[in-house]
Amino acid sequence: MKLSRLSLTNFRNFSRLETSVPENITLITGNNAQGKTSILEAIYYLSTFSSFHAERDRELINFLELKNPIAVARIVADYVKAGQKHQFEIRIIKEQSKNGKPRFRKEILHDGVKIKEWQALGKFNSVMFLPQMMKIIEGSPSERRRFINTIIGQTNPHYSKSLSEYRKGLSQRNSLLKNLFEKRGDQDQLNFWDELLAKKGAEIIMQRITAIQELEQFAASIHNELTRGKEILHLAYVPSFDPHKKDDGQASMMNATINRDKYDLKQIESAYYEQLQKNRTEDIYRGQTSQGPHRDDIEFLSNGINLGVYGSRGQIRSTMLSLKLAEMDWIKTKTGEWPVLLLDEVLAELDDDRRHDLLDRVIKTEQSLLTTTDVKLFSSEFLENAERWQIQDGEIIPSK
Ligand SMILES: Nc1ncnc2c1ncn2[C@@H]1O[C@H](COP(=O)(O)OP(=O)(O)O)[C@@H](O)[C@H]1O
Ligand SMILES: [Mg+2]
Repeated sequence: MKLSRLSLTNFRNFSRLETSVPENITLITGNNAQGKTSILEAIYYLSTFSSFHAERDRELINFLELKNPIAVARIVADYVKAGQKHQFEIRIIKEQSKNGKPRFRKEILHDGVKIKEWQALGKFNSVMFLPQMMKIIEGSPSERRRFINTIIGQTNPHYSKSLSEYRKGLSQRNSLLKNLFEKRGDQDQLNFWDELLAKKGAEIIMQRITAIQELEQFAASIHNELTRGKEILHLAYVPSFDPHKKDDGQASMMNATINRDKYDLKQIESAYYEQLQKNRTEDIYRGQTSQGPHRDDIEFLSNGINLGVYGSRGQIRSTMLSLKLAEMDWIKTKTGEWPVLLLDEVLAELDDDRRHDLLDRVIKTEQSLLTTTDVKLFSSEFLENAERWQIQDGEIIPSK
């Protein structure tokens, strides 16, 4: 998979950028606040259709442009996948609604045809690595859910569709729960939402079981290499509704040794449906759905120790590295293509050995873009293999 051309209009501090993209390695250099991260953000947006930095899409529109009643930020990208040329065009639009308030929306065009966001997912694959991603291991469970959703979504757009239908159903069910608490009424009104959540939820759980198991295999072997055989890495899926949970209410041992393969979709669906029914009284009392994929978690264990709780900075960094490299391998096996690798200022965070390991891998990938404020972190061999973009104030000055 290769990005061949990138064009940005009113995206962050780039009022206009038009560039071809080097075939292999691009090293993006420049001082702070010049636009290096924004370039990676624009590229990664083509894989996720949401920003890893911005709370809302509107933040991506250039400040000055945003002062106008109508404003558009645009990303246009040409890329080659499986030997075929494609183009994405994304428009983030500010317009005036009838009541005079600004309204924001986005349009996605693929090869000139307008498509929905879930249809657009999985077409352009990339893996992003930035220092803040340590949050995946040390942060709240929602960080880990976002991580796994992004990964699966990149290879399977139907997953993202199920996820969005699940979320809508969840919010409907929750409003109904609150309503039932305040006004009483017939609990059977919940049946429809319970069925929907069970159906979509089971799909999500199944996909997560498989993805986490497969990802673990890649990550464990890379991690073993990176730690020179010292650490054994496990990824453990900790589902909020666990089809393994015994009827006596005893939580099962939720570690990586559980083989979740033997469950099929229908079994999970009916078990989760039953559980939603059982939880009703309590859910009504709390005004929210207590169990389901919206409460799932993942544990990262090194030599049996939970890194989220006991991991050192160094361990968390190298685990993150293993995880990101595993993500590359996983996407490659799923799609047959190497995703584009995006690395934002990560080298400065790693020790010499890890830096070396990472750069070795970067050289082997098909295409990668890295940002840095400090070119000295790179070996001369690496620099020879890379094209260089110097960024200044939202403009690129290509140089070798
Ligand atoms: N919507 C926006 N419009 C214009 N400028 C923006 C917008 N969002 C961020 N910026 C500015 O863009 C600049 C580049 O940010 P960034 O890409 O993070 O730089 P770098 O990675 O080179 O340090 C910063 O000065 C930031 O304040
Ligand atoms: Mg930056």
